[in-house]
Amino acid sequence: MIEVRNLSKRYGDFEALRGVSFEVARGEVVGFLGPNGAGKTTTMKILTGFLYPSGGSARIAGFDVVRDPLAVRRRIGYLPESAPLYTDMQAGEFLETVAEIHGLDRPTRRRRIAEAAERCGIADVLTVPIGHLSKGYRQRVGLAFTLLHEPDLLILDEPTSGLDPNQIQEIRALLREIGREKTIILSTHILREVEATCSRVLIINRGELVADAAPDTLQRGNVWVVVGEGAAAEAVRARLEGLAGVRSIEQESAGGDPPRFHLRLRTDEPRPLGPEIFRIARDAGWTLHELRSENASLEEVFQELTAVN
Ligand SMILES: Nc1ncnc2c1ncn2[C@@H]1O[C@H](COP(=O)(O)OP(=O)(O)OP(=O)(O)O)[C@@H](O)[C@H]1O
Ligand SMILES: [Mg+2]
Repeated sequence: MIEVRNLSKRYGDFEALRGVSFEVARGEVVGFLGPNGAGKTTTMKILTGFLYPSGGSARIAGFDVVRDPLAVRRRIGYLPESAPLYTDMQAGEFLETVAEIHGLDRPTRRRRIAEAAERCGIADVLTVPIGHLSKGYRQRVGLAFTLLHEPDLLILDEPTSGLDPNQIQEIRALLREIGREKTIILSTHILREVEATCSRVLIINRGELVADAAPDTLQRGNVWVVVGEGAAAEAVRARLEGLAGVRSIEQESAGGDPPRFHLRLRTDEPRPLGPEIFRIARDAGWTLHELRSENASLEEVFQELTAVN
């Protein structure tokens, strides 16, 4: 459904995207994650044909976004970062206007608006001016707007930003529901959101893609917890840091005599490091109290992949 190859974008001298490549298959719900300024909105604007790339290519359902922008726009529903909703208009009038712009005839407009409104839970507020709606309801109107021309793909730029936790839950449930039959790519800063809604996560940092995986594989078995008692902690730590695949070690001293240490090793990928850690601890005369592998939190994964270094 989406095919992005080596995409780059410059704003003057600044490289906002640097060789981004990824694919999204029909039916996937993909979270697009990254810190402020990482390039999420830029990527989405290129995918929707609102911005030209400086290099590389992007295709939607086989259509090139630069050469076939109209074919592309027919197939996507795009909810921009700050959705430009006309606050003076009633929600229903707004949807009617959009449906007219899509060139739908009157009976089709009626039907599509009724369907989208029903789906997004706004059937009761169609006569309310958009400016009087809560943010959550405005966001629902925005989602209904993206559905009117029955696109296959939704591109949603931070659909839950600025919403309270209840509204976030409601929009998430709505996206899960819509995601049963449509392909969705949504950007967000909220890691939990991706866990709750998406089957895959793309993480972008300073214009480069740094992860493309299912949320749980990103986290799986990438932490080793070692609790041991003994002297020579620095020597043990240095040897552990020397193990292949170990990225970083957090150390906490729990006091005691002999001193007790809690170590948390982050590794690049799940690796059966247990025997090696055990050997190192034994050689240093340590008594091990705990040695186990656990999943990294999404926050840990995100921080590591997007660390400024
Ligand atoms: N029109 C522009 N001119 C110059 N620089 C721009 C322009 N638009 C975006 N940028 C820069 O490009 C980088 C990527 O911006 P982009 O809006 O794509 O980030 P983002 O990941 O959507 O961030 P946020 O999470 O804050 O929405 C930022 O450093 C931004 O300042
Ligand atoms: Mg943005």
